[in-house]
Amino acid sequence: MKNHVIINNKINSFNNKIYVSGDKSISIRCVLLASQGIGLSKIYNLLESEDVLNSLKSIKKLGIEYEKKSSHYLIKGFGLSGFKTNKKINLNAGNSGTFARLILGLLVDSKNEIKILGDKSLSIRDFSRVTEPLKQFGATINSNKNTLPVKIIGTDFLRPINYEEKLGSAQCKSAVILAAIKTPGTTKIKARKSRNHTELLLKNLGFPIKVMRKKNFDLIEVHGQNNFRGFEYTVPGDISSSAFFLVLTLLSKESKLKIMNVNVNKSRTGIIKILNMMNANIQLKKTKIYKGEAVSDIYVKSKNNLKSIKCPQELNSSAIDEFLLIFLVAAKSRGISSFKNLSELNKKESPRLDIAVNFLRKIGVKVIRNKDDIKIYGNSKLELKGKFIMNNFKKDHRVFMMSCVAALTLGGKWKIHDKDSINSSFPKFLKLIKKLGAKIN
Ligand code: S3P
Repeated sequence: MKNHVIINNKINSFNNKIYVSGDKSISIRCVLLASQGIGLSKIYNLLESEDVLNSLKSIKKLGIEYEKKSSHYLIKGFGLSGFKTNKKINLNAGNSGTFARLILGLLVDSKNEIKILGDKSLSIRDFSRVTEPLKQFGATINSNKNTLPVKIIGTDFLRPINYEEKLGSAQCKSAVILAAIKTPGTTKIKARKSRNHTELLLKNLGFPIKVMRKKNFDLIEVHGQNNFRGFEYTVPGDISSSAFFLVLTLLSKESKLKIMNVNVNKSRTGIIKILNMMNANIQLKKTKIYKGEAVSDIYVKSKNNLKSIKCPQELNSSAIDEFLLIFLVAAKSRGISSFKNLSELNKKESPRLDIAVNFLRKIGVKVIRNKDDIKIYGNSKLELKGKFIMNNFKKDHRVFMMSCVAALTLGGKWKIHDKDSINSSFPKFLKLIKKLGAKIN
């Protein structure tokens, strides 16, 4: 079956209301924490994407049963030492860096060797960023050149650590927190700001975790080995999936969109702040706090007088998965936009900074790159003519979806390969975008 899409027309104006799928980061964390609770957890609106389904299949291999009901998933945990790890097991993380890195944290007490495998893209990503701190807890971890497959054997003699997280990576911070919940004593973490879903979930479960928020970092203390019960959780919509629709609307003519019930945790809303600094008028309405997480309806309208931005570096982490889209908006804005210190972008499902620069040049946008900094020369009248083929982007779901948004808003005749990539994070993407009137074959 064909695995590409053809887009030959811009999207017509629309005025609509949509719901995006459940948040991926929160879904994976719910699966992992439910696997550590005592008794049944009930998770509503769990994202049904490959990254999350691979997480469910993996906890099943570790002896945790789950069941899909019509409106929710039931997961039955046996507490903090409930994984059955007395034989060698292989776990396939597929494309998911989040699952692969976080599960390692929960395996620091495994009785036997557990091997983590992944797809081609995940198998070239660096794991030393999590294996180094996890070894300090006492686990034995082996890999070839710090890439998958990674093998871990835990220990009965876990010791708490003091750890400084310097990359602003929520995956590293969370892997350490998950190891800490199994470890006696107090683990202390000084972490650069990054998404804090793990901390909020644990706090809501009554787990003894303390977070002291400082200006540029958080001090986190985890008092380990406290069991908690299974829980109920309704996963809010994913801001990173909503982002494609925010930019689609912003760059389309005379359109309006409401995206309902989206997680707008401040550690995730960099894209909204950045786009509003560029003259967008994106509003959060009916904000409520659900188990520590802010959830809003997002209102967005088209804008034709967008302006460039000198992007404050402190927003990098809260917009980390959205830069491909932000660059696209910069290309269609008046003036020169500049972005700094984006080295982490090249550590994602694909080398996204390299791919973004090539993409912008391919559509005729001037870009100056200096290592991890870029300048984008915007043009508010940018319109594309001619043919564009998108391939060789390591099946990165976010590159595929950004390319669709570019095709539907800037024009041109597009063939975009690797449609299946959307299954990692947002299987409903094409259905939803067609509902707004996009003509995609
Ligand atoms: C994630 C953290 C981020 C992000 C990824 C999801 C998470 O990665 O890019 O898509 O759920 O913790 P890093 O921790 O590597 O920045």
